[in-house]
Amino acid sequence: MPIKPAVLFVCLGNICRSPLAEAAFRQTAQSAGLEVSIDSAGTGDWHAGHAPDPRAMATAQRHGVDIAHYRARQVRRADFADYTHIFALDHANLGELERIAPPDARAELALLLDLVGGREGQGVADPYYGDAAGFEQTWADVTAAASALVNKLSKPA
Ligand code: 4NP
Repeated sequence: MPIKPAVLFVCLGNICRSPLAEAAFRQTAQSAGLEVSIDSAGTGDWHAGHAPDPRAMATAQRHGVDIAHYRARQVRRADFADYTHIFALDHANLGELERIAPPDARAELALLLDLVGGREGQGVADPYYGDAAGFEQTWADVTAAASALVNKLSKPA
């Protein structure tokens, strides 16, 4: 029997981009009736235990997802065994994940926008030091990736 997919989204702080990727994918997977475990994490630990950035919460809310209860956590070695897919939001995070991945990692590691035709190899820009428009761009990016990922995981193996 095929294993149920489990997807982890990873950015730097786990308060801006990866919570939005988690929210967009939860929304899209639920509409599609896709059974999948979903979480997000950060390569850094500065924000561990914190709620998402208020601008990320407002952006998700505008698009119909409440993420106020999300709490940041740092990625851990067990994630490489617990998840089938780990998506890095940008190249720096992908590099860090490759550095810490145990040799027997089960998870497939990739850049999130590799899922999106025409965006392969691109990172999702960090909106943390920018304005609200940056968070809308993040939402557009993670939504495109969420649709592509639901399609990918819905195909029979
Ligand atoms: P994120 O954004 O990686 O998308 O959650 C950031 C959040 C916090 C910091 C940097 C990026 N920071 O430097 O604290």
